[in-house]
Amino acid sequence: MTHSLRAFAALLLAGSAALSPALAATGTVPTGTAGAPGAAAILARIRVAEATGPAAGASSGQPAAPAGDSQAAAARSDAVRRASPAPVASRQPTGAFPTNEISRQPWIDLGAGEDALRKDIGALQQTLTELQQLQLQTKQAHWNVSGTLYYPLHLLLQEHYEGLSKYADTIAERLLAVGASADGRANTIVRTSGVPEIPGGFLDDAQVLAWFTQAYKRVGEEVNRGIKVTEDIDPTTSNLLQEVEHGIAKYQWQMRAHLQRTGTDPNAGRDLNDGKPVELPGQPGAEPGQMAPGQTAPQGTPGQAAPRP
Ligand SMILES: [Fe+2]
Repeated sequence: MTHSLRAFAALLLAGSAALSPALAATGTVPTGTAGAPGAAAILARIRVAEATGPAAGASSGQPAAPAGDSQAAAARSDAVRRASPAPVASRQPTGAFPTNEISRQPWIDLGAGEDALRKDIGALQQTLTELQQLQLQTKQAHWNVSGTLYYPLHLLLQEHYEGLSKYADTIAERLLAVGASADGRANTIVRTSGVPEIPGGFLDDAQVLAWFTQAYKRVGEEVNRGIKVTEDIDPTTSNLLQEVEHGIAKYQWQMRAHLQRTGTDPNAGRDLNDGKPVELPGQPGAEPGQMAPGQTAPQGTPGQAAPRP
């Protein structure tokens, strides 16, 4: 993978050099398009990622950084960002993750006091974050799902992604309607989602089904708590959260059904999993958080203790 990235960047560089005599002469890329990184900049960023990434140790014979080391991962991300030749600056501070600023303009008062408003905002913001996390993960799985069920899961995950996107927009705009800013930033998702990061690389179909069965369960239960918190202080928000829960529960069923064991087929899922059962945490016969012996366990399957930054 690393070699192919390097080769791709080298091709870009060679192509740019062929088009630009100035590049060939000086080794620098003319900035024809303001803000667009040139080939040399792309190569520099990849070099930073290579020098600081977990593969760096492995390629040099050193042991790779331990998985789940979020501080090391954050440092690597920052190193890549600092390599950008055109850092984006703003006069406004980054603020906390999440930041939900309350408007000073007149808005419709819920009439339940400031503490209640903050609870309302909290329930909406956490739901937004989880919907965005699921948006990213359904797309990741849509692209990388592999195995017998590749095509139906590729389509189903796209459908879920589109549904999640609509729900996320509705919830974000409800935040604005009650007088708060919405926080959809990448750092807010990484730092505050209760769903752990989905494994990288190709994803086996059975792994995808087990992953989303658990991820949707976790988020659905989180949204249910939000419905209860808001039902008295803001019935409109509570109703919107009910709509979200309805969708998440449907998506959870659509993943779970593939693995549903029945009276005539107690081995559902084995055909997708090299003849081994797909065990889910909480399933009868499975230890909580355990996968079947020999099964490729998804790292940080939702429902297990989630690694938090
Ligand atoms: Fe697609």
